[in-house]
Amino acid sequence: MAAPRTGERPRVVLGVAGGIAAYKACELLRRLTESGHDVTVVPTAAALEFVGAPTWAALSGKPVATDVWSDVHEVPHVRIGQSADLVVVAPATADLMAKAAHGLADDLLTNTLLTARCPVVLAPAMHTEMWEHPATTANVATLRSRGVVVVEPAEGRLTGKDTGKGRLPEPSEIFELAVEVLARGAAVPDLAGRRVVVSAGGTREYLDPVRFLGNRSSGLQGYALARAAAARGAEVTLVSANVTLPDPAGVKVVRVETTAELRAEVVLAAGSADAVVMAAAPADFRPTAVSEAKIKKTVDGFAPAIELEQNPDILKEISHGRQRPGAVVVGFAAETGDDTGDVLDLARAKLARKGCDLLVVNDVSGGAVFGSPDNEAVILASDGATIDVPHGTKTALAHVIWDEVVGRFAR
Ligand code: CTP
Repeated sequence: MAAPRTGERPRVVLGVAGGIAAYKACELLRRLTESGHDVTVVPTAAALEFVGAPTWAALSGKPVATDVWSDVHEVPHVRIGQSADLVVVAPATADLMAKAAHGLADDLLTNTLLTARCPVVLAPAMHTEMWEHPATTANVATLRSRGVVVVEPAEGRLTGKDTGKGRLPEPSEIFELAVEVLARGAAVPDLAGRRVVVSAGGTREYLDPVRFLGNRSSGLQGYALARAAAARGAEVTLVSANVTLPDPAGVKVVRVETTAELRAEVVLAAGSADAVVMAAAPADFRPTAVSEAKIKKTVDGFAPAIELEQNPDILKEISHGRQRPGAVVVGFAAETGDDTGDVLDLARAKLARKGCDLLVVNDVSGGAVFGSPDNEAVILASDGATIDVPHGTKTALAHVIWDEVVGRFAR
């Protein structure tokens, strides 16, 4: 499937099914239109019970229809799907997904889903019982097997007083995912059916209840990797150490603080993963003892000595103890070069030492990469390949890394 036509605004169909989360789709629509997309909203009749047609028409600048009987001379039930560059349905109900999985077409949205040949993203929202029902599970599996990106719902407060899995992810994050799927333009995502684990952020090693040893990792690169993998259809677990960024849509986020916690969660998730990317910066050392009480200043002015012990090397452990044959392991190396060698000499030695398949090397001599939306890297592969990634966004680097991972799956 070709990328969206150049020179024209990309055509996005925003399907809205009948769930209370329909109101959140207004925010998604705003973001899509304000970023230059030509959006046609196709609500179901039930969706209009929640948010009326005038809202969709005003925000999209286009009339809206739910059935196939309006403007029949323009054959909308075929034309809208055929001419779309992306179809995103948010919220997608259990009913809508059941119809889509079985090829039913009794309104404009389900007709559009049958005629679309572009990438399709469904963002489900429903009560936990509905999401977990075997019928929904089977329908989601069918849709995913056909290349549809079905976003995992978020956990949290649902419509009533109950909480659980089934919330629509934040509209801003559905937007980020949708534009990435659109930018790639692939009707069949290349990480569909794959489980991946990404670690992000920097761990903290506590000295006492209020102080810790930490580092400058922002988590941006790890979050970009997780979001990119979700947009390419993967089931993503993001082990996140002290990151304040919003949860990427469709990604299972597991929060940790220390290197020991990070190790436990990464090892657990890696057992069934096709790829593990260690983008986190785990602290290499931790205090030998953690004081239960806040450490006080001494009257004589002497600073306390802090004794440290080494943390486990997670990347090395994962690389050498692969439980799944063919799993691809990726490490990162932030290097400055020293009197024993330049950045690439040190990185090649680290690749061999860690035993991973790919090592993404950042030259951090100037400290520029921390917290920056951009990155520049060299990827070293255990098979000897070297891939130069020019200065660009962390999202662009994330996609190059997944390209390399996907290439290694195929071997
Ligand atoms: N890493 C890890 N466990 C650690 C430390 C680092 O898994 N305890 C991972 C990081 O997530 C990264 C890679 O190892 O993917 C390289 O991290 P880096 O800090 O550069 O490696 P070190 O082993 O600490 O190397 P150095 O000898 O430079 O300290």
